[in-house]
Amino acid sequence: MIENEFHLNNIAIKKQFQGKGLGLKLINSVIEFVKSKKGNLIFLEVMHDNESAIRLYEKNGFESVGKRKDYYTKGKHAILYTLEINNG
Ligand SMILES: CC(C)(COP(=O)(O)OP(=O)(O)OC[C@H]1O[C@@H](n2cnc3c(N)ncnc32)[C@H](O)[C@@H]1OP(=O)(O)O)[C@@H](O)C(=O)NCCC(=O)NCCS
Repeated sequence: MIENEFHLNNIAIKKQFQGKGLGLKLINSVIEFVKSKKGNLIFLEVMHDNESAIRLYEKNGFESVGKRKDYYTKGKHAILYTLEINNG
């Protein structure tokens, strides 16, 4: 966390527990943590073809704000997402 901006580097649910709603709980606990620290923006990158992660972020209000071409490796681009948090 730098000033009021939180960079979410990685989240993961062990394969055998995926698809059971735990990712949703994890992202919600991240949002609550950032709120408790008076943060007002969460920022993350996700690989362009990571459908489950992208759906998870979009369902939770994250908005796509840009793209970094070949960020991970050639042909694997990053989509940048942010969630603004109203701490008022
Ligand atoms: C992304 C990840 C954390 C989601 O965790 P999860 O526990 O499987 O997700 P949930 O069960 O809470 O599902 C939340 C939403 O994600 C999406 N989702 C989950 N699994 C999915 C799948 N296999 N295919 C498509 N969408 C999926 C759905 O939109 C789901 O909402 P729904 O309830 O309407 O179906 C998990 O798949 C994971 O660990 N992936 C590998 C690591 C990774 O890619 N991390 C993100 C790096 S940026």
